[in-house]
Order: sequence, then C-alpha cells, then structure tokens
Amino acid sequence: MSSKVIDVLNKARERELHAILQYMVEHYELDNVGYDKLGSRVKEIAIVEMNHAEELGERILFLDGSPVTKPSADVKKNLSIADLVKYNIELEAGAIEMYNEAAAVCVAEGDNVSKTLFEKLLDAEDDHLDEFQKILDHIQKLGDVYISTLIG
Ligand SMILES: [Fe+2]
Ligand SMILES: [Fe+2]
Repeated sequence: MSSKVIDVLNKARERELHAILQYMVEHYELDNVGYDKLGSRVKEIAIVEMNHAEELGERILFLDGSPVTKPSADVKKNLSIADLVKYNIELEAGAIEMYNEAAAVCVAEGDNVSKTLFEKLLDAEDDHLDEFQKILDHIQKLGDVYISTLIG
C-alpha cells in the first residue's frame, strides 16, 4: 500500500493529537475560571478528536504503517475566551483543508477506504468549525453579555 496514504494519515493523526491536548487544557482552564458550560462542550469535542486519532491509528496499522505519537504543535495556554475560540477555529479550518487534500491523495492512490475515513472526519470537523464560529459571532456581537452565558 502507498506510503503517501500512510503519510497523510499520520499527518492527520498529529493534528488530532494536538487538538486532543489543546481542548483538554482548554476544558481544565475554562472549568477553573467557572466557564463550565463552554468547558464541558470543549471536553466533548476533545473526546471526539480522541476517536479520530484512534481511527487514524488503526487504519495506519492496517496499512502496516507506524502511528505517530507526537502532536503537530504545542498547547497554547491562558488564552482569553475570544482568542481560545479563534484558535480553535484556526485548528478546525486547518484540519478541514488538510483532510480535503488528504482525501484527494487517497483517491489518487486508489485507497477508497482511507478516503472514506477522511470524509467521516471532515463531517465532524465541519460541525466543530461551525460551532466555534457561531460562538465567536456571538462574542463579537454581544460581548460580555454572551460570555456570561458560557458559565455553567
Ligand atoms: Fe478530529
Ligand atoms: Fe474537530
């Protein structure tokens, strides 16, 4: 099987590992300052990303590759709520861009199973992007009034 496919699967896994760690840290920080509602939602998304990392790892193993264990970037800490949401938008949008390209690589290499996996991940990342974008829109329109609704 094509090493190009294993390569894009691993690139995606690196991103997922970063998203997991980033969202977990955000969850702890948000909980700590009392924004439990947003914190719980970010925790749920972190768990979805864990499943993604796992599914990518399983596919890599199936193709006789070796799943990477290093995240694509360091965790950003102590962001303001608006910056945290903006950063998450950046992560989700970056993943969407990369997974679309990866799906095309899978098609070119004749691996439709991996392509389908990327499509499944894209579906979830699209939802995450949409959700974070809506939160940012509300923050920008309503400011502190909206931010206060993110408290549990
Ligand atoms: Fe993901
Ligand atoms: Fe996501």
